[in-house]
Amino acid sequence: MAKLIKNGTIVTATDRYQANVLIEDGIIQAIGRGLEEGDAEMIEAEGYLVFPGGVDPHTHLDMPFGGTVTADDFETGTMAAAFGGTTTVIDFCLTQKGVPLRQSIRTWHEKAKGKAVIDYGFHLMIGEMNEEVLAELPRIIVEEGITSLKVFMAYKNVFQADDGTLFRTLLAAKELGALVMVHAENGDVIDYLVRKALAEGNTDPIYHALTRPSEIEGEATGRAAKLAALANNARLYVVHVTCAEAVQQIAEARQMGFDVWGETCPQYLVLDQSSLELPDFEGAKYVWSPPLRERFHQEVLWNALKNGQLQTIGSDQCSFNFRGQKELGRGDFSKIPNGGPSIEDRFTILYSEGVTKGRISLNQFVELVSTRAAKLFGLFPQKGTIAVGSDADLVLFDPLAKRTLSIDTHHMNVDYNPFEGMSVTGEPVSVLSRGEFIVRDKQFVGRPGAGRYLKRGTYAAGSGGLLPGEDAVQL
Ligand code: URP
Ligand code: ZN
Ligand code: ZN
Ligand code: ZN
Repeated sequence: MAKLIKNGTIVTATDRYQANVLIEDGIIQAIGRGLEEGDAEMIEAEGYLVFPGGVDPHTHLDMPFGGTVTADDFETGTMAAAFGGTTTVIDFCLTQKGVPLRQSIRTWHEKAKGKAVIDYGFHLMIGEMNEEVLAELPRIIVEEGITSLKVFMAYKNVFQADDGTLFRTLLAAKELGALVMVHAENGDVIDYLVRKALAEGNTDPIYHALTRPSEIEGEATGRAAKLAALANNARLYVVHVTCAEAVQQIAEARQMGFDVWGETCPQYLVLDQSSLELPDFEGAKYVWSPPLRERFHQEVLWNALKNGQLQTIGSDQCSFNFRGQKELGRGDFSKIPNGGPSIEDRFTILYSEGVTKGRISLNQFVELVSTRAAKLFGLFPQKGTIAVGSDADLVLFDPLAKRTLSIDTHHMNVDYNPFEGMSVTGEPVSVLSRGEFIVRDKQFVGRPGAGRYLKRGTYAAGSGGLLPGEDAVQL
């Protein structure tokens, strides 16, 4: 049955206006003031902002890491995402050296199938570059619609790739119209600093931050940007940017005309390094890589979002329980699983801390949590906007609601919330995925398995996006 969302204020990355939205067959069929419901179901949205569903370009669901597996899988993680106003996630498919890429992708499909509540795509990790990988890539990009490759410059002896691998990945990606994402920290220097700290008996969580200084994030970011420039101006996307040094490298590269983009995460905007010093090992809850920084970096990140030096917000959802998982690092900070839960609070934190505090505009908010990621990752205009022909992924958002973020009210499958006690303004009230309610009046009404796998377009194809019904872009 068709639905008509009435009297809401539609907000996109460029516009803000009052209109009704007619939805049928999962697609936005019409937008206009005069639209009447006819035999459509009427949904009153007066007083609400109507946003395109959030696009979270950075999640790790059901991921083995640090000797354990993330607490949230595709079911709990995407359900929490839905409550938080996110209707698309792009998750990182891990790979292993010597194992065909296709096999790893199959594994990731199995993790998501029957579980995801919202639509999802995959990025593909590249850990080695050789003839086998090069032979597999073109078909993966076209047939799987996996148009973004991820290279880790850190996590030595686990995920880390060397510069040769990064450079060859950039060259191949440029050729194939794919984008390369980097975790930019100097893993070799970190490895040395970590060993040194442990040898000196410095085992507390704070040493996680002290052994990964911002200078080495800046160094790796600059190195990646220069290699991308050298690889015929390949498109580079730096994930989870935390500090002034990295922002500066991205800004300089962009100023010189290079195709370099940057993401930051809510945790780096509102938390700082002092959390790692909490007593009773509680600092372990705040162990992310790169680490939380000294407070002054927050202002740098907010300014970078405002002035366009950084363009997206990812959650980097990678949740581990404090009990039994974070605790693996008691007595040795290097064994604390890296990562935290923010898939649910990403959208609201950016609205509350960004829009209501005057740091970014309402349109910039939509651009940052939805539109820009949809464009960069080949999903626009199917995702990332409110337009005729786009998927009806919509958030009815109460801009005045006041609440407190907490483990007591969140829906993530993890035993703490890093934003515990934080007062926020604004709340997703109802969320639709392809025209169907998945959250209605703050109650979950979605279905595990309803989320669809998204084949994404290549940026080389122009708009970089698939229209509804269109197949993956041919090379
Ligand atoms: O600490 C983090 N960020 N964990 C997730 C893995 C990664 O590096 O993105
Ligand atoms: Zn497949
Ligand atoms: Zn990372
Ligand atoms: Zn990550």
